[in-house]
Amino acid sequence: MTDFYDELAPLYHLIYPDWNQSVAAQGEKLARLIDSEWPGADGQDQGHGVPRKVLDVSCGIGTQTLGLAALGHAVTASDLSAREVERARHEARERGLDIAFSVADMREAHTHHGGGFDIVMSCDNSMPHLQTDDDLLTALRQMAACLRPGGGCVVSVRDYAREPRGTNLVKHYGARVEDGQRHVLFQVWDFDDEGRGAHYDLGFFFVTEDLATQAVRTRVMRSRYYAISTTRLCELMREAGLVDVRRIDGAFFQPVLVGTRPASTAA
Ligand SMILES: C[S@@+](CC[C@H](N)C(=O)[O-])C[C@H]1O[C@@H](n2cnc3c(N)ncnc32)[C@H](O)[C@@H]1O
Repeated sequence: MTDFYDELAPLYHLIYPDWNQSVAAQGEKLARLIDSEWPGADGQDQGHGVPRKVLDVSCGIGTQTLGLAALGHAVTASDLSAREVERARHEARERGLDIAFSVADMREAHTHHGGGFDIVMSCDNSMPHLQTDDDLLTALRQMAACLRPGGGCVVSVRDYAREPRGTNLVKHYGARVEDGQRHVLFQVWDFDDEGRGAHYDLGFFFVTEDLATQAVRTRVMRSRYYAISTTRLCELMREAGLVDVRRIDGAFFQPVLVGTRPASTAA
């Protein structure tokens, strides 16, 4: 899995038609969601737009981290892929943003980062890289422990209830032109058990054409996902000690699952 994202790191922005615009848009949407879900600390109104202490446990190249930091939030960020963290660090430097980056497995988030965060998040379908309920529960328990009492957990995932099962499923991402090269991006999904399983193997294809010479190069990065439902993920969030867990639609480009660390107990 780390190989997948290590290889993807220099190309990751191509997934978006305009990554910089998505960084800004996702940061704004998440900031709005955080303000509306957790307006006050321990019952005290913090007010909207107040900087939060945010931990992103799967920052990748920084799509959400950079957007939130640009709005003034104090962001700490980690990811399993060293190459992605390296690129995120570079992107932050380019933007003059002060973000503490490190390499860490979200299953060790609390061991690595400690507690006291207002918000802990894992966005854009990162958690389904964990292949079992046990691993997801370990990660969610560690994430909950990173929160101060009353702090909020934010998880955004694909809505797998809406994704057809099968094999040879092709998902098109479109074409991007950059520096004289045209990249055509698509994924191929193969669900286990002849297309009926809960897990799938994914190939992410980048077909790159040099527009001057028409020379073509194809790269494929492979990974595996657990197509967990948002209902099951919400159950695991509750089992991890979070309360007021629910799914929010329409606030972000994916469903967002939110939960709160109880004010009075150790999560
Ligand atoms: C689809 S990317 C999203 C990254 C980032 N949130 C973004 O939107 O740019 C999924 C990320 O999850 C990370 N990841 C997968 N398993 C992880 C784990 N166990 N701990 C931390 N990060 C993990 C990958 O390295 C990758 O950066």
